Amino acid sequence: MKLKHKDLLSIHDLSTEEVLKILDVAKKLKKMQKEGVPHEFCKGQTLAMLFSKASTRTRVSFETGFHQLGGHAIYLNDKDSQIGRGEPIRDTARVLSRMVDGIMIRTFSHDSVIELAKYASIPVINGLTDLLHPCQALTDLLTIEEHQKTLEGRKLVYVGDGNNMAHSLMYACAKVGMHMVCASPKGYQPDPAVVKQAQEDAALTGCTVSVEEDIFKAVKGADVLYTDVWTSMGQEAEREVRLQALHDYQINGELLKAAHEDAIIMHCLPAHRGEEITEEVLEGPHSVVWDEAENRLHTQKAVMVLLMSGAEL
Ligand code: CP
Ligand code: NVA
Repeated sequence: MKLKHKDLLSIHDLSTEEVLKILDVAKKLKKMQKEGVPHEFCKGQTLAMLFSKASTRTRVSFETGFHQLGGHAIYLNDKDSQIGRGEPIRDTARVLSRMVDGIMIRTFSHDSVIELAKYASIPVINGLTDLLHPCQALTDLLTIEEHQKTLEGRKLVYVGDGNNMAHSLMYACAKVGMHMVCASPKGYQPDPAVVKQAQEDAALTGCTVSVEEDIFKAVKGADVLYTDVWTSMGQEAEREVRLQALHDYQINGELLKAAHEDAIIMHCLPAHRGEEITEEVLEGPHSVVWDEAENRLHTQKAVMVLLMSGAEL
């Protein structure tokens, strides 16, 4: 199965079938890797990884993953490439298309990624923008399925800043029939245009996507409690204001008690202990954050295999 689009820019662009296919391939690749079965489906290929923001998990999962697939990944940041000196994104797109087989990009503006994909003749994978983080949210579905056995009908409650992570989780949940509530204070709620689109997607799979100010009301019956940093990359100047505004939107022991007794705790990481999540909960028995981090590797490999190789898995 080939994905309909050349690129992975947003989960909204994928069909439910495509999302489930990515998860299925990720599970197969995970098994192969654990059993030491060779899986060089991208042998001889090159991936360019463009980073305008910091990263640990995304860089390492793509670079290691592509190596395990038999390919070679090149890391480029703004400082050391011509992008930082102003070379237009559309020129970078066309040059890289003549040399490599795929591009992964992490940057600020989502429009830049759309432009890159438009001018590139090769697959472009969104490794995080100010608007979305689709690779992380796909990974999160895999982790939820592993721990909760099913996705459809489950309830995920995201607590905190209505940011790129909240947006991609909305799309991800909507595609697989999971109820999603974003619990955020006024001024930090998700982009209404994203909420509307996710609600339209949710209507097709029979689930709901909503925004709620009252966190205790939101977490009732939650199977998954999810949070992310209050200050995303690029918002550092707002840090003090954000600390105040989001102070009550923390995942802690008290909030966990209000969720389903088997609820799992998720965080895309890096975590700021004592801000969006307490040490006790992050390191506690409900937390699956290390499995979640590992699954970045397997899910990124699945995305690359489906977009860049003709392998049937
Ligand atoms: N979760 C995530 O994308 O982590 P990095 O910023 O370390 O890549
Ligand atoms: N919302 C965070 C996610 C980091 C993986 C950020 O954009 O910085």
